Amino acid sequence: MTSIPLIAGNWKMHGTAEMAAQMLSELKAGSQEISNVQFAVFPPFTYLYECQQQLASTAIGYGAQNVSDKSNGALTGEISTTMLTDLGCQFVLLGHSERRHLLGESDELITKKLIAALSSGLRPILCIGETLEQRESGKTLTIVKEQLAHALRLQDNLPALSSMVIAYEPVWAIGTGKTATPDQVETVHLAIREFCCELLPNIGEQLPILYGGSVKPENAAGLSAMPNVDGALVGGASLKIDQFLEIGKKWKQQ
Ligand code: PGA
Repeated sequence: MTSIPLIAGNWKMHGTAEMAAQMLSELKAGSQEISNVQFAVFPPFTYLYECQQQLASTAIGYGAQNVSDKSNGALTGEISTTMLTDLGCQFVLLGHSERRHLLGESDELITKKLIAALSSGLRPILCIGETLEQRESGKTLTIVKEQLAHALRLQDNLPALSSMVIAYEPVWAIGTGKTATPDQVETVHLAIREFCCELLPNIGEQLPILYGGSVKPENAAGLSAMPNVDGALVGGASLKIDQFLEIGKKWKQQ
């Protein structure tokens, strides 16, 4: 474990203003009993103001699910890093598989977003992971290393890179109920760790590596016991605050 575990909740395109307010107040209350775990939530953009209102004076982090690589301009529908930091965001998710595969984001674009995020002081959670077809054809490690290499080759320009978090999320395990086994996860996390150390000898050892893909209270204990799994990126189960907290407790027990 690199530091205190990070348990991040990706709400995706779910919720209403009322639900968001309720979930944040439940999270605030429940997380007080769980020390030594950092929680962070990633609601839709429209609820970030509510996060600022409710979480500003707490240890719970928050951030957006995406950001533009550009700082401003005629870009209808986009949101800049400054707009996020104005709302007190500390984090941003980048390269989620739904953005890569459903919305066509390339490694090049994700790298530009990474630079924008790091330059503005946001802590990026860079998501990487293979599809089922890639796993079945034995390409898992090649794919995750390729995705990482794009981001990490910029090391020289980016002293802030040490604030980055990596999330390994096999595409076939996201929202499917199929979790990778702890051993499958650890194998990939260890390869990611070794690759980070090779490319970034000064910081590779410390970069947190989260696992995401159908994490639930029932499978969290096994995953959290793995030496290179530094926390979780939770989708579906993060919408139920009791489950999200329960997942955090499993990591705390390690
Ligand atoms: P899931 O989503 O937990 O619902 O599988 C994880 C994610 O997409 O980050």
